[in-house]
Amino acid sequence: MTRQRPPTRVTAGRAGGIASAGSTPPERMEVLWDRSEGQPLPLPASLARACGEIRLPRGNGGLHLIANFATSLDGVASLSLRARSSGGDITGFYPNDRILMGVLRAASDVVIVGAGTFRAAPRHVWTAPHIYTRFASPFARLRARLGKSPAPLQVVVSASGRLDLRLPMFSSGEAPAMVVTTRSGARRLERGKVPAGVRIAPVTGRPVIRAAEVLRATRDAGVTGLALLEGGPHLMGDFLADSAVDELFLTLAPQVAGRTDLAERPGFVAGRSFAPNNPRWGVLVGVRRSGSYLFLRASFDGARRRIPE
Ligand SMILES: NC(=O)c1ccc[n+]([C@@H]2O[C@H](COP(=O)([O-])OP(=O)(O)OC[C@H]3O[C@@H](n4cnc5c(N)ncnc54)[C@H](OP(=O)(O)O)[C@@H]3O)[C@@H](O)[C@H]2O)c1
Repeated sequence: MTRQRPPTRVTAGRAGGIASAGSTPPERMEVLWDRSEGQPLPLPASLARACGEIRLPRGNGGLHLIANFATSLDGVASLSLRARSSGGDITGFYPNDRILMGVLRAASDVVIVGAGTFRAAPRHVWTAPHIYTRFASPFARLRARLGKSPAPLQVVVSASGRLDLRLPMFSSGEAPAMVVTTRSGARRLERGKVPAGVRIAPVTGRPVIRAAEVLRATRDAGVTGLALLEGGPHLMGDFLADSAVDELFLTLAPQVAGRTDLAERPGFVAGRSFAPNNPRWGVLVGVRRSGSYLFLRASFDGARRRIPE
């Protein structure tokens, strides 16, 4: 591979999202293989061109949970450097990756992140337009066609409750927000000013919150349908440990990030070990390509313990 930079670089927006991709149109995404289940999303033409047809399960009364990550070819999900630790630093802010993220957010009823991911992008709001502003209109059309409210519920999972509720995720009013936390975390948060429309959901006295507790708090907030887990690696590890991840959307970015012994550079799971004693095998259900990027989709439905065929 000779390319050293992604083809189109975009700049960080004011709210920590992406303001613009310049004038270069995103590349067409090629669907190489697709065995995914569900109904095709009613994508406006610009999104269909940038992502290809996407099928997602819908409305069975519960929550179908998809996770979305990007890693380098050598499996790095975070460069672990101050101000250079986002998923965008892994993908080079590649437009088709941002658009696919936007589509998944636009199709979701709830977006769940861990406190570390929130702290790494403190000015971000976890809605589709904040990941790719230029396609705000088609994202809104997609949500309207799906009959969804203007924005998904944003959920942050935090044991400590050490979150600044003045930041845009909570204070902008652009999307409803909820913190799922411990009882001591809730006390800490409620000592400060909780913005109107922000729910604090204490679920346990233990520091590690189980996936089922996060999903129960989400349902208690009146939200069912499609749940999107956007990380980070610790929360993903905990959700996989609880067999709560139905599917993974994984972007493979064509860079080698490298590691030294001095700084940890996690993959998309941290804090948990599965193989070989307690493995999590997925089944590949989709492969897409755009430029030099691969977009994989794997099903973890039932968290298989054996090597799939
Ligand atoms: N490449 C990608 O696609 C991608 C995606 C997402 C994130 N990232 C990157 O990953 C890095 C952050 O990694 P991370 O592993 O620290 O992220 P993380 O899982 O979002 O954050 C860890 C923190 O979240 C809370 N938390 C997570 N799971 C919990 C549980 N089960 N119960 C209670 N609290 C829980 C805790 O917060 P408290 O400390 O408040 O208790 C914990 O310290 C950032 O650099 C981010 O940009 C990359």
